[in-house]
Amino acid sequence: MDISFSDTRPDKARLVAQIVDKGNMPDGLERVLASGARASRFEGKPGQLFEGFVERDGEPVRIALAGAGDAGSEARAANCEKAGAALAAKYLSAGEETLVLDLSGSGLDAEGAAAVLLGLRLRSWRQDAYRTTMKDEEKVSLARVTVVGAPAGTEDAWREGAALAEGVEFTRVLVAEPANKLYPESFVAMCRERFEGTGAEITVLGEAEMEELGMGALLGVGQGSRRESQLLAIKWNGGGDEAPVAFVGKGVTFDTGGISLKPGPGMEDMKWDMGGAGAVAGGMLALVKRKAKANVVGVLGLVENMPDGNAQRPGDIVTSMSGQTIEVLNTDAEGRLVLCDALHWTQDTFRPKRIVDFATLTGAMLIALGHEHGGVFANDDSLAEDLLEAGKATGDKLWRFPLSPAYDKLLDSPIADMKNIGPREAGSITAAQFLKRFIRDDVPWAHCDIAGMVWAKTPGRTWGKGATGYGVRLIDRFVRDTLEG
Ligand code: BES
Ligand code: MN
Ligand code: ZN
Repeated sequence: MDISFSDTRPDKARLVAQIVDKGNMPDGLERVLASGARASRFEGKPGQLFEGFVERDGEPVRIALAGAGDAGSEARAANCEKAGAALAAKYLSAGEETLVLDLSGSGLDAEGAAAVLLGLRLRSWRQDAYRTTMKDEEKVSLARVTVVGAPAGTEDAWREGAALAEGVEFTRVLVAEPANKLYPESFVAMCRERFEGTGAEITVLGEAEMEELGMGALLGVGQGSRRESQLLAIKWNGGGDEAPVAFVGKGVTFDTGGISLKPGPGMEDMKWDMGGAGAVAGGMLALVKRKAKANVVGVLGLVENMPDGNAQRPGDIVTSMSGQTIEVLNTDAEGRLVLCDALHWTQDTFRPKRIVDFATLTGAMLIALGHEHGGVFANDDSLAEDLLEAGKATGDKLWRFPLSPAYDKLLDSPIADMKNIGPREAGSITAAQFLKRFIRDDVPWAHCDIAGMVWAKTPGRTWGKGATGYGVRLIDRFVRDTLEG
């Protein structure tokens, strides 16, 4: 969707939207429209919408009023996003190609206006590349938004918003892509294409290089797949000589469970088991596109977990790059096997000052937190706090869980240094404890288990059904607030 700014309202505008603060109907509205809105109980609550037709210059014009809530609200930005999102949801396939967003006389400042645009753009993303027989009335019609009367500074604020939207959309594309299209090598290819010419540095390790480095845990997961496993690093140097902050993502492009095969019903969901890697890729894209003044690196462990004659078996013992050995009691607990080598390599290669991983790691996290929060585990309180804050500020919310030696010992194995599963209880925590065994003592680390967040069965704040793009805004905000002060 194309968003542009204009000084004058285009003539022949057939669809005009205005943003309305709660209890504050704009001046100059046609009387019939204003009373119609009141009669329909439209008050300007966040995301509330009213539509009416009026005659302007002898032509019928469709007017949409979108509520942005109280002007002084602490949640102003989120409420403005809701107003934009409501417009997108209603008009995306309503037949009009152009929406004129008339902000003259609105109570918005530049940040509020940019937030409306972000909501509009994010909510208008849809994946219909594979639908060839859609009826005309189902197709996306809305192609452009022309903003008139924008408050001073909106265009600058929107440049940053647009970078963020690109990141979120990239993550959604990756997450929504089916696993016959998105596998480790094609994931890498899509990233190469998106980061081409941006100044980001791309490094890719294939299986031979990973073998050489001793990444037996990651390679064990991929060994049953026809697709070659990959380790991808995307590095952005926008902040001088500082050690980077590293983001590491679980990128299991399909998780059948391996020989510990998952049940059939619902297995298709496991195409989005690369949601952590997707969030890191999109987060990096947002940072790179807005030329963040920070040193950051994203590392993606990309594998496909398949059952096969060559697949690893329950009971196999693998040696990770760190030298620690792992008894693989359940081949479906594969994410931690991928991450442990990715985390070790990241610390070895980039000496990051902080490291945060993102992973759709455990079904238990869905049971604990549902679809409202991701779970965060950290060996460092200030890092946890920074992530929780970024979550609150962006709506990519997190909730902290504990780590402790008592949980850690549930992973002890009689035959190797550890096993890859604990008991059923505290499944998300033992998964985090497993990862912690691969983090150096002096490195602040956080693990975000986002199993419940990357895919939505019902539309949400700024997304429709499907891929949410969770994590991109969290990463962007975290970097902005902790590295770009
Ligand atoms: N990718 C899954 C976790 C998952 C499940 C994410 C459902 C989203 C929705 C992960 O690889 C997995 O299979 N975990 C197992 C671990 C168990 C075998 C210890 C799980 O959660 O059941
Ligand atoms: Mn699994
Ligand atoms: Zn998995």
